[in-house]
Amino acid sequence: MAFYIHDSELYCEDTPLAEIAQVYGTPTYVYSAGHMSQRYQGLTNALSGLEATIYYAIKANSNQAILTLLNKLGAGADVVSIGEYRRARRAGMAPNKLIFAGVGKTRDEMAEALKGGLLQFNVESVDELSALNDVAGAMGLIAPVALRLNPDVDAKTHAKITTGKAENKFGIPLDAAGELRARLDTFAHISLEGLAVHIGSQITDLNPYRAAYQKLAETVREFQAAGHEIRRIDAGGGLGVTYSNEIEPDLNAYAQILRETLAPLGLPLMLEPGRYLVARAGGLLTRAIYVKEGQKKRFIIADAAMNDLIRPSLYEAHHGVLIPHGQRHSLPTDVVGPVCESGDILAVGRQLPIIDAGDLMVIEGAGAYAAVMGSTYNTRPLPAEVLVRGHQFDLIRPRQDLDALIAQDRVPGDL
Ligand code: LLP
Repeated sequence: MAFYIHDSELYCEDTPLAEIAQVYGTPTYVYSAGHMSQRYQGLTNALSGLEATIYYAIKANSNQAILTLLNKLGAGADVVSIGEYRRARRAGMAPNKLIFAGVGKTRDEMAEALKGGLLQFNVESVDELSALNDVAGAMGLIAPVALRLNPDVDAKTHAKITTGKAENKFGIPLDAAGELRARLDTFAHISLEGLAVHIGSQITDLNPYRAAYQKLAETVREFQAAGHEIRRIDAGGGLGVTYSNEIEPDLNAYAQILRETLAPLGLPLMLEPGRYLVARAGGLLTRAIYVKEGQKKRFIIADAAMNDLIRPSLYEAHHGVLIPHGQRHSLPTDVVGPVCESGDILAVGRQLPIIDAGDLMVIEGAGAYAAVMGSTYNTRPLPAEVLVRGHQFDLIRPRQDLDALIAQDRVPGDL
């Protein structure tokens, strides 16, 4: 466990969180490097025997310290904007370990990535392919491409993070991919290298993967039969994690699906996990500002808010709350933030231990899609980020300076 309670004290690895709070204040995202390494190794072990490479989807957590850690372990990166591309490069990722995915890459983004180098663009529409062909042509280059297919498979996850159904904006429908295949020769500056799918996020039922990979394998065979050499297959990300009582997909069963569906094609496989590697390695360390006793409910008003962790407000997501006292309060408790919205919730209706104003707690599962989705709503500065390794903890992003944040505005002189 990355986060735990020992002798009424909160810990991440061997570091008391009270020390981090004392040095860097709250709210602060705290990450366990050890946990991330374990997750990476666990996934790699399950994939043994398969020719598979992990391209970490850095949208989950793009702090360069984390990118450096995963790069050292052997991961490449899946990026979805030129900003993410630059971060990955800055963290030392080699160009040939970068996939540029995303449904709306601009021509400027394409040009910069082509110039800097990358393994492949995952292209999601004919319009995009045509733009990329123009950009590469103008630069006298050939763009390496994987076509992202939309297999029309329901990933059985939250509607806002389902991506592989026909009604979602993502990917090229299978029949359209067939038509495009026949016209690929007209794109002189495109080199088709692979085919890709990604059906959604926080997937805990493995059956949708099997269905999508079967369709992907079939499509690869169709492309091959039509004379196209496919060099690699991108199986996407989406592996789910436990936030409350979800059962994490069994990695060996997942690897077995890859063995049965895609491995028989004899091509290198690529995976794009984000959340699986980092979600549970992170906690949002926060302090109770006030505790408000209602008649039917108790409210803990934390110094972290929806702008530091939007997942509960946006997806009704459950995040565990760790409070280091034994006795549970009789009333259900909501953990809320100071933001002026009823939707500003971190946890709802929990049976939680008694806590006093000024005490620390941890919101669990904040390693993925937490800091990266942060905002400065209510003019709240972005929290600090700290990386823990055993007893050692390092600041990997300082708390945003409030005055610097306010100083960004420009007031026209004639106002
Ligand atoms: N590959 C592609 C093309 C993606 O769109 C995504 C995530 C991933 C890989 C990584 O998925 P993962 O392994 O992390 O599930 N903000 C939402 C999640 C959005 C996921 C978007 N795409 C949340 O907090 O649940």
